[in-house]
Amino acid sequence: MTDFPALITGGGDLAAFLKTNKGAVDAALEDAGALLFRGFDVPDPIAFDAAVEGYGEAGFTYEDSLSNAVRTNVTPRVFTANEAPPSTEIFLHHEMAQTPLYPSKLFFYCEVAEMTGGATPLCRSDRVAERLAEVAPDFLARLEAEGVRYTNVMPGDDDAGSGQGRSWRSTLSVATSEEAETRLMELGYSWAWLEDGSLRVTTAALPAVRALRDGRRSFFNQLIAAFRGWSDSRNDPNKAITFGEGEPITAEDMAPAIALADELTVDCEWQAGDVALVDNFTVMHGRRPFQGKRRVLASLVA
Ligand code: FE2
Repeated sequence: MTDFPALITGGGDLAAFLKTNKGAVDAALEDAGALLFRGFDVPDPIAFDAAVEGYGEAGFTYEDSLSNAVRTNVTPRVFTANEAPPSTEIFLHHEMAQTPLYPSKLFFYCEVAEMTGGATPLCRSDRVAERLAEVAPDFLARLEAEGVRYTNVMPGDDDAGSGQGRSWRSTLSVATSEEAETRLMELGYSWAWLEDGSLRVTTAALPAVRALRDGRRSFFNQLIAAFRGWSDSRNDPNKAITFGEGEPITAEDMAPAIALADELTVDCEWQAGDVALVDNFTVMHGRRPFQGKRRVLASLVA
């Protein structure tokens, strides 16, 4: 598939290009699910911030999100994509689909690409859902009917050594355990405090299959990342996901979805100055492990 992500080459100021061509860009995004802007003049995070501003939609901030990843703001609109170590693979996911609050689109910007590995795998979840309906119809139907619940353990303080290391204080934007419990009640989560000050939370049943505007379905969830990747000193991936009614989702359940997603994945190989725009409802993303210097920044659209 050479049309994915769809390549848009040009030169000059990307902010001006996005502002002038917003309609055409959105139509291309609707069609392809992911766009790669290459050859434009985007030398630094300030220029990337301006490009996102030029696109002109409201932002979705890291502070407001319930993301598990440790991140750092670079400009008000731009933050580091994930502070997890280079050797850690970030598996395919829809951004923040493990929470009730998720962005509709994501911008990525490659500032430094002096690495081996480090591609951003992209996978069309509408195609995953379509194929899953053929090979595992009962699993897909059950996900659609029940939704899914995610369980994870958040440390008391940020742990940058983990892809899931964001503290409960930061994740929930609270200072005390009392405030945390109020927030969790608002979200419909259940929870347990652990002896070391960390917090285990289980979400309400969240959608795992999303109806797209034209009637297609999308495998819109965080199941693959949770099942393959939520592993650290606090988290056991085998306990991370259940169907909405509480029964575990097993390795056997996940196998066809993982195989299809791997088959349908295309690696976005970065060059410095590249900007990608990803429809978060139709396309999953991740991060390949890498060696060397890689800096990819992100900005989220509400
Ligand atoms: Fe992500």
